[in-house]
Amino acid sequence: MSTLKNSPGPDEPAETPRRRIRFNAFDMSCVVHQSPGLWRHPDDQSHRYNDLGYWTDLARTLEDGLFDGIFLADVLGVYDLYGASPDAAVRSGAQIPVADPLPLVSAMATVTEHLGFGLTTGTAFEHPVPFARRVTTLDHLTGGRLGWNVVTGYLPSAAENTQSRGQLDTFDHDARYDHADEYLEVLYKLWEASWEDDAVRADVDSGVYADPGKVRPIGHRGDRYTVPGIHVSAPSPQRTPVIFQAGASERGSTFAAAHAESVFVAAPTPQKLAGVVETLTRKLHDAGRTRDDVVIYALLTVITDSTDDRARAKAEDYRSYIDLEGSLTLMSGWMGVDFSGFDLDDPVTGIRSNAIQSAVAAFQTAAGEDGAAWTVRELAEFGGIGGLGPVLVGSGDSVADQLEHWVDVTGIDGFNLAYAVTPGTFRDVIDHVVPVLQARGEYPTDHTAGTLRHRLFGRGDRVSDNHPAHTARARLTDTEGART
Ligand SMILES: Cc1cc2nc3c(=O)[nH]c(=O)nc-3n(C[C@H](O)[C@H](O)[C@H](O)COP(=O)(O)O)c2cc1C
Repeated sequence: MSTLKNSPGPDEPAETPRRRIRFNAFDMSCVVHQSPGLWRHPDDQSHRYNDLGYWTDLARTLEDGLFDGIFLADVLGVYDLYGASPDAAVRSGAQIPVADPLPLVSAMATVTEHLGFGLTTGTAFEHPVPFARRVTTLDHLTGGRLGWNVVTGYLPSAAENTQSRGQLDTFDHDARYDHADEYLEVLYKLWEASWEDDAVRADVDSGVYADPGKVRPIGHRGDRYTVPGIHVSAPSPQRTPVIFQAGASERGSTFAAAHAESVFVAAPTPQKLAGVVETLTRKLHDAGRTRDDVVIYALLTVITDSTDDRARAKAEDYRSYIDLEGSLTLMSGWMGVDFSGFDLDDPVTGIRSNAIQSAVAAFQTAAGEDGAAWTVRELAEFGGIGGLGPVLVGSGDSVADQLEHWVDVTGIDGFNLAYAVTPGTFRDVIDHVVPVLQARGEYPTDHTAGTLRHRLFGRGDRVSDNHPAHTARARLTDTEGART
């Protein structure tokens, strides 16, 4: 997916490979998403996260920049591993206070026509039936521009606050994914199999609004859920939203290979990322799918300006605002370890995690080319801007060269761009990097109409035939039949 072949004209040499680089924006409804401390920078507007105007302005900006979409992260708990207390997170604003991302999508959809929305919600915190309705509603309201980032949740505090007694066993890393498999099975049945496309007739003469013979109960009986009845909403343009996923551990990448149509990956170096992509590609084949069935975006932050010197000065300025404790608070949550007990010069080794295992794997091995392990200080400084992803600094030309390098080494399709300051970081990319990529023929120059799925894959609005959502539909319609 990372290279596109030009169609050769009669006199042109055969097929020149050309890169196609995609951008998503990565944001969250809070003041500290991935860059702790930078909320204090005078250019940062993350403090407006409860103001709809912030989100609608940002959506317009991203649509102008021909971004694929905006990806909204979310957690339902507090980062309280650091110091075994929520205090450091609350003090530094580390993804808390945090607002619900879902209502933002409707507002952003009204001011845009093409921008996609990657909405994050967890599979452990809410029954699938009300969630299925909210997603169907948003896919209708956005004209089929919705993606759903399926997360299993890595914060114990979220699980403790939301689980009924006896359910906390599902917080084990791999068991969370087993539970998510069933959660998705219920959703796929509701979205894909319950209503026929022509069930809604709105027939004024007969007074029949919808044909009961074309509305099927899903009859789900599983380990955790019993959902015998019908979906309560009529099918939306995509039915199943584009499934996004970010798990990269052994179990996480098996889950992603089965379900994801878009995968978010994060690694500090292209070499480490190449390994993640290779594993995913192998697992996609094992799941009867191919690399072309997923769009892969890597987490990354770009600090750019009109010249390399100006970009470097901007990066230095931003770095002077980093809050190291806030960074370690986030890192503690992501990596499942309390860094408050470490000396800043301690090496990051010997960590076993029940949180984001892929993050642990990436950071406890060599930091750089010299093969030395990361120290806690290096980890905190790295995470101070852009979280688990790297930061590229330079003019539009320099950044474009670096992006090309990442794409060439890893085979990814594009980047999930975090911000140092918002919306300035996104605006800078659009002003300085996008025109360079366009001039190199590697970035679109116009919008592509249609649903998010159509725009990402250039084919239909619905899941492809080899996706488990399609299989869920086929299984119900083949074996049980519509009640006609
Ligand atoms: C780039 C990226 C973004 C993520 N965003 C979220 C998020 O918004 N909310 C969340 O609960 N988990 C998020 N995660 C965590 C993953 O969804 C997943 O639960 C986690 O990586 C654990 O999976 P693993 O151990 O298989 O890697 C993110 C992970 C990555 C790499």
